[in-house]
Amino acid sequence: MSLLKVEGLGKRFGGLKAIDALSFEVAAGHVHAVIGPNGAGKTTLLNLLTGLYRPDAGRIVLDGRELAGEPAHRVAAAGLARTFQNLQVFFNMTALENVMTGRHLHESLALLPALLRLEPMVWAENRCRARAEELLQHVGLGAHAGARADALPYGMLKRLEIARALALEPKLLLLDEPAAGLNPTEARGIDALIRSLAAGGMTVLLVEHNMRLVMEVSDRVLVLDHGTKLAEGTPAEVARDARVIEAYLGAEGPPAALAPAAAEAAGAAAGAGHA
Ligand SMILES: Nc1ncnc2c1ncn2[C@@H]1O[C@H](COP(=O)(O)OP(=O)(O)O)[C@@H](O)[C@H]1O
Ligand SMILES: [Mg+2]
Repeated sequence: MSLLKVEGLGKRFGGLKAIDALSFEVAAGHVHAVIGPNGAGKTTLLNLLTGLYRPDAGRIVLDGRELAGEPAHRVAAAGLARTFQNLQVFFNMTALENVMTGRHLHESLALLPALLRLEPMVWAENRCRARAEELLQHVGLGAHAGARADALPYGMLKRLEIARALALEPKLLLLDEPAAGLNPTEARGIDALIRSLAAGGMTVLLVEHNMRLVMEVSDRVLVLDHGTKLAEGTPAEVARDARVIEAYLGAEGPPAALAPAAAEAAGAAAGAGHA
């Protein structure tokens, strides 16, 4: 069953078609990756899905609900949460406070009973805190709930960003390059986290440059090029697609980038070179 359906989506910037007649579906419970060379339209796609940009054409249907053209807060309330490539963390707050802030939208919907005095505010606050603690545990930050964000290393901040998005209790979680800037060990931790989210039933749309991660965690991969669908399939299907290899050859170096084992070996060699 498809949780997300995108049909004929289009977005122009002047004469440039950044997204052009794009259609794809994301099945509930799947990890669906979006890859493509720089300028392919990945970020534009995320901005369209989350309501930051208004599409010129097409439909975006989440769980049966039309979202194209809806503002970002309505999209978030409909169950679509995202992380940002550039972290959107409040550095002067603790990890726990960051997640509780993320929870605000969700809780405000549930706040009515409290306002009607059906439930004391303090209970709502406690429930919010308890859920935020649970989410921090889930992303492996349980021991750092009271730490200020500016004291946490980058790898933990990426996890905190994910916990904050999860605080909305989304139906679909969009991750914008969750492994960018992470060392191989930290990136593997993100693999494990995405897998555990998927095992818990979460549907994930992942934009990521780290091919090893994409190949390991994705059920399906959508390859964008010049705003259109170049290929779509399982990681193995996409990795041996001649058009995909060519697109990467043109833009980002050898097709080895698509072969997990080879990419790993190249990474290890590069690491050894620095040592
Ligand atoms: N706000 C914008 N205004 C004008 N052009 C844009 C804007 N955002 C993206 N573009 C252009 O749209 C194309 C797709 O960009 P983008 O979605 O950022 O690609 P990707 O994230 O895959 O690298 C690029 O040619 C880019 O220059
Ligand atoms: Mg981008």
